Amino acid sequence: MLELIQVSKSFKSKFTKQNALIDISLKIHEGDIFGIVGKSGVGKSTLLNILSLQMLPDSGTFLFKNQKVDSLKKIQKQKMIDETSFIFQDFSLLYNLTILENIALPLKLRGISKEERLKKAKLMLEFVGLLDKQDAYPIKLSGGEVQRISIARALVTEPKILYLDEPTSSLDEATTLDILNIIKEVHQKFNITIILVSHQMSAIKYICTRVLLLEQGKIKRLGPIQNSNDFKPTYDLLWEEA
Ligand SMILES: Nc1ncnc2c1ncn2[C@@H]1O[C@H](COP(=O)(O)OP(=O)(O)OP(=O)(O)O)[C@@H](O)[C@H]1O
Ligand SMILES: [Mg+2]
Repeated sequence: MLELIQVSKSFKSKFTKQNALIDISLKIHEGDIFGIVGKSGVGKSTLLNILSLQMLPDSGTFLFKNQKVDSLKKIQKQKMIDETSFIFQDFSLLYNLTILENIALPLKLRGISKEERLKKAKLMLEFVGLLDKQDAYPIKLSGGEVQRISIARALVTEPKILYLDEPTSSLDEATTLDILNIIKEVHQKFNITIILVSHQMSAIKYICTRVLLLEQGKIKRLGPIQNSNDFKPTYDLLWEEA
C-alpha cells in the first residue's frame, strides 16, 4: 500500500543541517497496524508526515498505492490525501465549537450538507461512547475524552488510512489502555490501515502488527511483532531489547 525506497530528509538552517531521516526503506501493507517507535527526536513525526503526504522527502522514492508521489498532479495528490486522516501529537479540537460541531467539521470543509454531517458525526460520537457530550465544549473534557473525540473526528470522513502521532503520550495508564482498545476496535470495525507513532513500546506491543524502531534517523529494526495482550508500561524501560 505504501512503500519508501531509500528516503532521506534533512532540515537546514543557516549554520546547521539536521539529518532527520537517513536511507529509510520500508513497506506498509493494507490492514497493517504499523508502529513507529523510538526515543524523542529520532525522526518519528518526520516519517509520519512524509507517509501522510504532508511533507516531501529530499531524496528517495515514495510509492502511495503503487504511484510515485513526486510525479503526481496536485489533484491526484489531493484525492489521496482525502483517503487519509491524521491525529496530531497535540490534540487540536476547536474550543469555540461544540463536540458534535468539532466532529462534523471535516465534512463541512468538504461541502457536505448540515443534516448529513451531523448524522454522521453522531454515529461516530456513539462509536467512541460519548454521545451524551455532543453539546458540550472541549474545555469540559478530560484528556482521554478529547482523544476519543479526535478519533471520532478522524473517522467521520471514512478514511482508508489513519495516522496517529503519539495518541496516548499525555494520558495515564488506564486511559491509555482505553484509547488503545478503541484504536483496535477501529481497525477491526472499519477495516482501515493504521500507522501509529509512539515512544511507548508497551503500546506498540499491545496493538501493532508490524513495527519500525528508529534510532537517530535510521532503521534499527523492522518487522512483525509478537503481540502481548497484557498492557505493561514496564516494557517501556527496556524497549530497546523488545
Ligand atoms: N520543521 C523542522 N525544522 C527543523 N528541524 C526539524 C523540523 N522538524 C523536525 N526537526 C528536527 O528533526 C529531528 C527529528 O524530529 P521529529 O519531530 O521527527 O522527532 P520525533 O521522533 O517525532 O520526536 P518526539 O518524540 O520528541 O516527537 C529533530 O532533531 C528535530 O529537531
Ligand atoms: Mg514527534
